[in-house]
Amino acid sequence: MCEIRAKIAGLGKFLPDRILTNADLEKMVDTSDEWITTRTGIKERRIAADDVFASDLATEAAKRALDDAGMSAEEIELIIVAGVTPDMYTPSTSCIVQKNIGAVNAAAFDLNAACSGFIYAMTAANQFISSGMYKNVLIIGAECLSKVVEYKDRNTCVLFGDGAGAAVLTAATDGTGVLGSVLGADGAGGECLTLCGIREDEIDKERRPYGNTRTIWMDGSKVMKFAVRVMANSTKEVLENVGKTLDETKLIIPHQANKRIIDGAAKRLECDNDKIFSNVDKYGNMSAACVPIALCEAVESGKLTRGDLFVLVGFGGGLTWGSTAIIY
Ligand code: UT7
Repeated sequence: MCEIRAKIAGLGKFLPDRILTNADLEKMVDTSDEWITTRTGIKERRIAADDVFASDLATEAAKRALDDAGMSAEEIELIIVAGVTPDMYTPSTSCIVQKNIGAVNAAAFDLNAACSGFIYAMTAANQFISSGMYKNVLIIGAECLSKVVEYKDRNTCVLFGDGAGAAVLTAATDGTGVLGSVLGADGAGGECLTLCGIREDEIDKERRPYGNTRTIWMDGSKVMKFAVRVMANSTKEVLENVGKTLDETKLIIPHQANKRIIDGAAKRLECDNDKIFSNVDKYGNMSAACVPIALCEAVESGKLTRGDLFVLVGFGGGLTWGSTAIIY
């Protein structure tokens, strides 16, 4: 019998119906489909209705993951929601989801590691499960970024979208599940991607000339250089740590920020582009929701089947990064 690991028992995703295309954005800011496509690979993104928030998206994704796992909400012992767009500071999004789905036996907390959030959540959940504290954990990446995007700023508004993805994890000793993770942070580099909370400094106001300081500001090219480097390094590192090779890996599922970052990481890893999953064209960057939605779609499309080794890898605000090697 193998050690206890968190195994993926079920997956679910939820995306709002409203689609914002590059053609729509051409009417809103000085941009073009050509610029957005060549610089990012994004064609469209989903936008939640005004009265829909991250907890609503998270709730729907959670219900679908529970269905997929054939598990009831009462069986869940812990809920972790990763994201940077909570409905409120408190109650946490995870507590709202706990109420919405009726997971009355679950503890609940939110986790902020920006776009790396789902990988941090997967790693944390695996710790709770492998220690024997919990058997069934629900992890969710949920974002309603459209609420914090300045739609007058062409540098950022073309990039982001809304969505949620969820995974039900269960204790397993059959050799599948999370083999290992690598997590990292560089707080000193955090200034290149910010979204204000309670504190707003002068620099935050200067960077947001349209007046709303509760919006995302980013030095895109700085983030991009960091991203390509950590995506490749962290994928190599996690595989090395768990004693596996890239050849043995069926699929790499990266954070979906920009097709050029994904292609750049593939080049550094010297692996075929089709070994790296991408759906950035359909949804854009949904921060912590990207990785679980991509994972869900990798399974739906048959690119990942039971027994396959895969790597989740991400980077984002903080700055943070992480990777995890899993047998599905
Ligand atoms: O999820 C984690 C966080 N985010 C990311 O990972 C994003 C990482 N960064 C990126 O994806 C890329 O840096 C961007 C897509 C944001 C930008 O691509 P880039 O190749 O780094 O372009 P740039 O920032 O060097 O900007 C080039 C030019 C600028 O014009 P000037 O100053 O050279 O005249 C921008 O003003 O492109 C201009 N520009 C645009 N033009 C048309 C910026 N946004 C747009 C736009 N349409 N939407």
